[in-house]
Amino acid sequence: MIREVLVYPDRRLKVKSKKVEKFDEKLHTLLNDMNDTMVDRNGIGLAGIQIGKADNVFIMNIPNKDGDQFPENLLEIINPEIVSKSDEMKTYEEGCLSLPEYYEDVKRSNKIEVKFQNRFGEVQHQVLEDLTAIAFQHEFDHLNGKLFFERISYMKRKKFEKDWKKRK
Ligand code: CO
Repeated sequence: MIREVLVYPDRRLKVKSKKVEKFDEKLHTLLNDMNDTMVDRNGIGLAGIQIGKADNVFIMNIPNKDGDQFPENLLEIINPEIVSKSDEMKTYEEGCLSLPEYYEDVKRSNKIEVKFQNRFGEVQHQVLEDLTAIAFQHEFDHLNGKLFFERISYMKRKKFEKDWKKRK
């Protein structure tokens, strides 16, 4: 089921998400709804809190070079941890379904080692690179109540706040 995506400055986006304890049907419904919503909005990632569910859950589906997404590339991430980050940084123009039509360059680690659980509670260990690593860090921020404009320069952020108020 497609759900409503919360948009900044909705205060719920600042809520810190909590650890998932039960890997039951309710969680699976949430994950399915998140995917329906992400696909409907042409997103490449979505965190639970963006549909108002403060659980440590996000999904990602990274497109290929031609911009195509495939269902089999869906990653369901539960209770994630970033074990280590490379010093090598990459700047990427990010967007977010909670900040519609706003795009800005953000600098993040290009390679990260992560640990998370899948929808059945099984622990996964992975090394992620490039856009997959960038998207993971973006979504991970959502679980801590952070949006990507909090990672840009002070001047750009000031401009963002001004422009955002003027829109609509
Ligand atoms: Co986002």
